[in-house]
Amino acid sequence: MNVWSGEPIPNEQSTLGVGVPLKDAEMVRHRLIKSKLLLQQKKPIKTKELVFFPITDPKQIPSLLSDITFEFQQKLFSSRLEQEPIKLCLQKEFPHIKWEDISLKYDQIGEIAVLKLNSSITSQSIRQRVGELILSRSPRLKAVINKSDIVVGVKRVYPIEHLAGKRIWQSWHQEYGVFIFIDLRAYFNPRLAEEHHRVAMSVNPGERILDLFTGVGSFALHCAKKTSCDVVAIDINSYAINALKRSIKKNKLKGNINPIIGDSLNILRLQSHFDRVIINLPQVSVNYLPYGAKLLKKGGIITFYQFISKSETPETQIRHKVSKELGDVISYKEQYIKVGREVSPSRIQVNIDLQIN
Ligand SMILES: C[S@@+](CC[C@H](N)C(=O)[O-])C[C@H]1O[C@@H](n2cnc3c(N)ncnc32)[C@H](O)[C@@H]1O
Repeated sequence: MNVWSGEPIPNEQSTLGVGVPLKDAEMVRHRLIKSKLLLQQKKPIKTKELVFFPITDPKQIPSLLSDITFEFQQKLFSSRLEQEPIKLCLQKEFPHIKWEDISLKYDQIGEIAVLKLNSSITSQSIRQRVGELILSRSPRLKAVINKSDIVVGVKRVYPIEHLAGKRIWQSWHQEYGVFIFIDLRAYFNPRLAEEHHRVAMSVNPGERILDLFTGVGSFALHCAKKTSCDVVAIDINSYAINALKRSIKKNKLKGNINPIIGDSLNILRLQSHFDRVIINLPQVSVNYLPYGAKLLKKGGIITFYQFISKSETPETQIRHKVSKELGDVISYKEQYIKVGREVSPSRIQVNIDLQIN
């Protein structure tokens, strides 16, 4: 239940803050940033049970945090030191580069910043300086790494170039209160957090779930955290499954996860019946649909993710592909479709749930 403690009483130094439980803090921070409600020049305050974020507009908070317990309080938030923007520093130090055209956006994976630096910056020392500056601006970071443009091989990992900070490639990451152990030698994409959460929210107690390309097990962990389901989670990459085993120990799960290192093709030959099959190998997921469908109970759900080329009508494109794979043999009903993130200038990802009859 949300707690609205009435109109806050401001004073000259204090700022209005919203307090949320520690477990929800990371998710709330992301939502506040996305909605431009976080006062970024002030530092959040952490107490034993809550984190208070300084905010701009309390009226928008109840709808933004409708699923979370929160409270308002006036607080004395300390200011962050005014620091020169990174690009300005770089422009002064390396004036021959047009920094305004270079993206320095990074994904924060636990304590690691993962950057995709433009390949035109070839100088090792400049690349390292970018890493140092990013590190100096965020006390929560321990390391900055750069990933090359291409995700390579069947395991979908990228070569790691260490730019600054500790030489680490493993870290704990949190999504919606779920702890996920990340090993950068296995695939992980923090931008899938909402999908992990969406799927878990639709799982019912007692479901049997097969997560065919589980990676570090994000779907499996979200589902087993939400309810008492049974998940078989398989991946060919041993780093991924070893990471999942650590996460299983760390989270207080309601459900059970059976982590398997192996080729999903072997599982597809099983004689077993699941309520839900998750297929997230987006280059070729659609080709696995007939096999996934055979492993489902009547009325079961296949959740899958597929890359397609950008077009005016992505839904038509993906429906055509699905019908080619399933149409004549298996009857199905589309339950959910979302044109998701852009994965390259020419490709997008589509997220779909199909009910198999
Ligand atoms: C896109 S990632 C999965 C991401 C994960 N589901 C998530 O939400 O974070 C695809 C995964 O498929 C695994 N993989 C590729 N081919 C495989 C196969 N034949 N059998 C099992 N796993 C495979 C890769 O190691 C990689 O971890």
